[in-house]
Amino acid sequence: MGTDAGTAATQHEVAPPEAWDAIAAGYDEFVAPGEAPFAHAGLVLAGLEEGDRFLDVAAGTGGLSLPAARLGARVLATDWSPAMLERFRARVREEGLGDAEARVMDAHALDIEDESFDVTGSQFGVMLVPDQPVALREMVRVTRPGGRVLVIAYGSPAEFEALQLFLAALRAVLPEFEGLPDDPPPLEFQVADPDELRQRLVDAGLSDVTVDTTHRERIEVRSGQALWDWMLGSNPIAGAIVGDLTADQQATVRQILDGMVRDRSDGERPALLTAPLNVGIGTKCGR
Ligand SMILES: C[S@@+](CC[C@H](N)C(=O)[O-])C[C@H]1O[C@@H](n2cnc3c(N)ncnc32)[C@H](O)[C@@H]1O
Repeated sequence: MGTDAGTAATQHEVAPPEAWDAIAAGYDEFVAPGEAPFAHAGLVLAGLEEGDRFLDVAAGTGGLSLPAARLGARVLATDWSPAMLERFRARVREEGLGDAEARVMDAHALDIEDESFDVTGSQFGVMLVPDQPVALREMVRVTRPGGRVLVIAYGSPAEFEALQLFLAALRAVLPEFEGLPDDPPPLEFQVADPDELRQRLVDAGLSDVTVDTTHRERIEVRSGQALWDWMLGSNPIAGAIVGDLTADQQATVRQILDGMVRDRSDGERPALLTAPLNVGIGTKCGR
């Protein structure tokens, strides 16, 4: 394989919509179900109430939109990946969440009137877009004065256990694998520092900004294959990296992951891997 995987983390930094389309099924099956507890907590912290108009930016398969609809909000889910939104619509039908809607849209240029939502949120979405200040200002623009903006993003990659195990397994197979760049970090971690997230929310025009760092994502896996599925379902970059490996190398990575998962499980319960989260909330200033 050679050097390609070593630089894939930067080469594939901005995955196009088609790349997200390609992982929509995996995201829906392996990743999204574990998000519900902290998504719900973030919406409650943001003060979302029954009947509120809620906009989800880069909504994927409905990470925030489904819990918001379950709380009785009137939901519009937006994302630039049609396949992600198809999965969301299927869940809405399955759960009978009535009038929750979905529209394809780029987070940098929302096709939405000013001041039309009570709460606007983005979970692991605006976190990773290349022009985040523009996307944050768009979220603020479409929120009513006095309404709230919620951003849920990953904290430090060094504490993101699933990611660190995956990187370690790759390094075991490819000693030349460079891992994640530090400076600048991948876009996914541009607001991993809570102070950076706080400042960006202030710069976007929000007041009363808070960043809660007490929540963690809990990823439960029973095998190396399950951890592999989670990683490849979570972000196109993982598939791009392993796509450069031979089939034998991929099998070895899964085997190594399997040993790591077994080491962390007690044989009965699955291994628990956690990741720190930054839950940022601000209020749009009144007129
Ligand atoms: C990691 S997923 C998060 C999905 C969802 N918010 C959740 O919490 O499960 C990132 C999502 O951002 C979307 N995305 C990335 N860049 C985007 C952009 N510029 N505009 C709209 N959506 C974007 C992807 O299609 C993908 O669905």
